[in-house]
Amino acid sequence: MSLQQNIKKPEGKLGILVPGIGAVSTTLMAGVLATRKGLSQPFGSISQLGKIRLGKRTENREPKVKDFVPLASLDDLVFGGWDIFTDNAYESALNAGVLDKDLLEKIKDELSAIKPMPAVFDPNYVKRLHGTYIKKAETKMDLAKAVMADIEHFKTENSCNRMLMIWTASTEVYIELSKVHQNIENFEKGLLNNDHGISPSMIYAYAALKSGIPFVNGAPNLTNDVPAIIELANRLNLPIAGKDFKTGQTLMKTILGPGLKARLLGIDGWFSTNILGNRDGEVLDDAGSFKTKEVSKLSVLDSILEPEKYPELYKNMYHKVRINYYPPKGDDKESWDNIDIFGWLGYKMQIKVDFLCKDSILAAPVVLDLALFMDLAQRSGMKGIQEWLSFYFKSPQTREGLTPIHDIFLQKIKFENRLRHLMGEDLITHLGLDYYEED
Ligand SMILES: NC(=O)c1ccc[n+]([C@@H]2O[C@H](COP(=O)([O-])OP(=O)(O)OC[C@H]3O[C@@H](n4cnc5c(N)ncnc54)[C@H](O)[C@@H]3O)[C@@H](O)[C@H]2O)c1
Repeated sequence: MSLQQNIKKPEGKLGILVPGIGAVSTTLMAGVLATRKGLSQPFGSISQLGKIRLGKRTENREPKVKDFVPLASLDDLVFGGWDIFTDNAYESALNAGVLDKDLLEKIKDELSAIKPMPAVFDPNYVKRLHGTYIKKAETKMDLAKAVMADIEHFKTENSCNRMLMIWTASTEVYIELSKVHQNIENFEKGLLNNDHGISPSMIYAYAALKSGIPFVNGAPNLTNDVPAIIELANRLNLPIAGKDFKTGQTLMKTILGPGLKARLLGIDGWFSTNILGNRDGEVLDDAGSFKTKEVSKLSVLDSILEPEKYPELYKNMYHKVRINYYPPKGDDKESWDNIDIFGWLGYKMQIKVDFLCKDSILAAPVVLDLALFMDLAQRSGMKGIQEWLSFYFKSPQTREGLTPIHDIFLQKIKFENRLRHLMGEDLITHLGLDYYEED
């Protein structure tokens, strides 16, 4: 039996549950609703607009991705989630200020019906926020059980056939890997003992997996990047993926970096700074949350440039990343990159990038694709870390001992080959032998 015959059909409703009904998740929800009504188009989404080449170039086969692999339809998506504030998705989208009021009015009823469930939250892990709509319980295990009850309730209320959870809540403070994360036994003891190493996002991840649903981490938090959660996902045959949606400045870095490296241009320094004024920016103004983000953003260039293999080009590169909270910018982030490069005979040059981007506009299609491809992974019986989805993350989660791939072009090849493999098509290596052989 070929692989594709093992993929279950995407029948019935797919519930997408998000801890964090903020700028990113409401931009996603609004976009899906607007697309369904024919008001807008899902630009930036590979699952909706992408095409994939199959076979040799001479075959001229290039179907849409969604016609090639069996994905859930936008009409079958149902949204739900948790937040530390009571605003429904319409109110939250208005606050976020990403989308025009005109557009939001046209989908007001559907968005207003998406009301948050009370969150698992602890201000020790996100210092700048003071939520009021939060669950209270004696232990972290009780909180996990409360989230599991929410999931069950949502599933019944909305007649969901399948579900998954995507973390789109605020970035938590930096947490070091410790004993409590080492295996599921320690982790469960930690939940009962209220171990400080277990943050709210880990409680959600645990609850999702225990409820039999995949988990994706869109923020740079440690969350599912710990042996205990990976072990649980493998044991329960569930896919997980993370972390930190690749948008904005890091997206540009993983587009530019591979190009400079491909031409063996050296880099003396890469200075990146951002100003942004949304709630995410406010949270990242706290040193603990910034540290989590900084680690995620810094790791990217090393893996692309491989300074250990090209010390003369990249070993002395000075890489600095800054994020500054600047309220007037709102969700319209501005990010600058100053790149000091050198070429033939060491002659110096500079590249300046000024990206006036809209973070949530870049993030929404990423979240949509992740939801649909994670659902595909689950229906295909793929368990554990889904490295083929690295394309969507700043800090791709990989199996232990493997170096993550950050180069966006390699990530895209890996992603497409995974889809071809799933559907029993030949992998494409781009190894064209010009006149002698067709590729
Ligand atoms: N926008 C992007 O391009 C992008 C890229 C990569 C990662 N991210 C990450 O995605 C996340 C969401 O970004 P955003 O711009 O939507 O932020 P946001 O501040 O608008 O939304 C986050 C929401 O999460 C809520 N929240 C905080 N802690 C919670 C908890 N424990 N449980 C439930 N809700 C909680 C907040 O009240 C808020 O409504 C952030 O962690 C951000 O760093 C965003």
